[in-house]
Amino acid sequence: MDAIEVHDLHRVFRATIGTIRRRTKEVVAVDGISFGVRDGELFGLLGPNGAGKTTTVKMLTTLLIPTSGTAAVLGHDVVKEASAIRPRIGFIFGGERGLYWRLSAKDNLRYFADLYHVDPDVAKRRISELLELVGLAGREDEKVEGYSRGMRQRLHIARCLLHDPQVLFLDEPTMGLDPVGARELRQVIRDLVAQEKTVLLTTHYMFEADALCERVAVINHGKIVALDTPEGLKRHAEDLHIVEVEVFGIGHETVDQLRQMPEVDTVSVEDRDQKQALLIHSRIGSAIVPQILHSLDGNGIRMGKVSVREPTLEDAYVRLVGGAA
Ligand SMILES: Nc1ncnc2c1ncn2[C@@H]1O[C@H](COP(=O)(O)OP(=O)(O)O)[C@@H](O)[C@H]1O
Ligand SMILES: [Mg+2]
Repeated sequence: MDAIEVHDLHRVFRATIGTIRRRTKEVVAVDGISFGVRDGELFGLLGPNGAGKTTTVKMLTTLLIPTSGTAAVLGHDVVKEASAIRPRIGFIFGGERGLYWRLSAKDNLRYFADLYHVDPDVAKRRISELLELVGLAGREDEKVEGYSRGMRQRLHIARCLLHDPQVLFLDEPTMGLDPVGARELRQVIRDLVAQEKTVLLTTHYMFEADALCERVAVINHGKIVALDTPEGLKRHAEDLHIVEVEVFGIGHETVDQLRQMPEVDTVSVEDRDQKQALLIHSRIGSAIVPQILHSLDGNGIRMGKVSVREPTLEDAYVRLVGGAA
């Protein structure tokens, strides 16, 4: 039995739009997904904003009822046996509030342990273990209001572990953290798995999924478009070469023109400081460079460095989600 089992899960939202002529609009947030997460696995749900990640996590954590399909956590149905699931799971949603800023980290944890009916003797020991785990030991008596975002997010993780859940759901846990804070948090996530927790992590950062997860489901428009190990996903892009050109002020028309070229697979543009990086996936490798340069030059685009490289997991991802990332 898998720790998490999902079969053909759907969730449709009905929103009322318009003030004079009121209509209802249906948003299919999750469109028939199926996957399983093994006991003790660190599983990633990777997709761009609006892909359906949070909606999926909300259904699995019993906060939202599916429109159709089934899901089970630790063998319990998320709808019919929600009360059997709740004490055995922990979750954090990105950008969440729910800590008392005027209290110290330790007092926050004491308060929540009490709220979750954790035995006081057990709580005392667990709080010090958890402070150690999330790297806040030595800072536990400081007020949370003076904490960095990364420290607060690690405290959130400690809070969701107070009742010693077996399965954790972390929805975009590193969102909004600086690189150092994000790295520290990723180390905490690795340590959780070392303690035999099952973790479902959502992220829109490819490299994060690559660095942490044993397997990754790539989700886009509510559907799983690939499910594999990071290595397996990279093979999706193996036949591609990536041409990267530094450009200054490229417009939609030029990008569209490049997309029309028969040898071009996908084109994406990333903002970098004063300039942009134009990323072109092509099956013919460096042979495409002259055509690209000719096209850019013809459109009067100023260029910097040009390079050709092997595909990364991010490239596989861009291909899978069709350049939407
Ligand atoms: N409560 C809601 N009402 C209407 N639409 C919603 C609601 N929650 C999410 N959606 C829509 O469902 C889609 C998936 O959202 P979400 O699961 O939050 O994506 P993600 O977490 O991957 O960014 C989006 O199009 C979003 O606008
Ligand atoms: Mg989300």
